[in-house]
Amino acid sequence: MTQKKPLALVTGATSGIGKAITFALAGAGHEVIALGRSAATLEKMQSTAGVRPLAVDLTDREALSSALDGEEIDVLVNNAGIIPPVVGFADMAQPDIDATLEVNLSAAIAVTRLVLPGMMARKRGHLFFTGSTAGQAPFPNMAVYGASKAAISSFAAALRCDLCGSNVRVTEIVAGRVETALYRDVLSDQARKGMYQAFDAVQPEDVAQMLLSVLQMPQHVDVTRFDILPTAQFTGGGGFAKKED
Ligand SMILES: NC(=O)c1ccc[n+]([C@@H]2O[C@H](COP(=O)([O-])OP(=O)(O)OC[C@H]3O[C@@H](n4cnc5c(N)ncnc54)[C@H](OP(=O)(O)O)[C@@H]3O)[C@@H](O)[C@H]2O)c1
Repeated sequence: MTQKKPLALVTGATSGIGKAITFALAGAGHEVIALGRSAATLEKMQSTAGVRPLAVDLTDREALSSALDGEEIDVLVNNAGIIPPVVGFADMAQPDIDATLEVNLSAAIAVTRLVLPGMMARKRGHLFFTGSTAGQAPFPNMAVYGASKAAISSFAAALRCDLCGSNVRVTEIVAGRVETALYRDVLSDQARKGMYQAFDAVQPEDVAQMLLSVLQMPQHVDVTRFDILPTAQFTGGGGFAKKED
């Protein structure tokens, strides 16, 4: 008799960290629902990695709720996120503020609310949240992004307290600089290239490798949080040591 594969849901699966996690989970024997807005990218991922595409905007609660109805999710990776223009708070546009809080915080909480009761009933599950060093320490021109990540960090930690004894594990991924498309709309290509090349940024596959290690720990072990930064990035701050030539 063939055993049912564990079912994972990854948000923000079409790019960067989420894409690498999706491929890693599929490679490790999970059935993966890959969620993002880009239907074309998801279709390609379906044909190359056999993942189940779910083209949904996370801010569309109704679509989300009906798409996930009846799904028995074992692993939820709340990874989707956006970064608003990197400017002083006084210059931020209200729609950018709202979108950042909606995608980075409210949507992750909403997806968790949909998936968690099933995990609790089945007495197994693992919830991952992608936080950021920007949620652990202040960075200039990132007040709202930082607030969204500090809030998700706090949510994950408190949720874990709620879940003690339920057998559902919670892990926050505190990422430093990872080379992805995150800044594509807010920095020039040249600025992005410089930011990643100068300091040997972490690669999305590195984060995915760590996630798999955490997931594969024995059930009685919960890695509640891991920080993953470029070796040359100062912990808890925005500064970088200059790379030796
Ligand atoms: N890169 C870093 O240095 C870094 C550092 C710390 C934390 N993080 C966090 O890591 C996570 C992943 O970011 P990334 O760096 O991999 O960036 P990325 O390459 O830009 O990926 C972001 C993902 O989020 C999805 N997304 C955005 N808005 C969405 C929405 N409304 N509905 C559904 N999906 C949406 C995008 O998919 P579609 O465009 O297809 O919707 C995309 O797959 C984010 O939470 C980010 O804050 C990144």
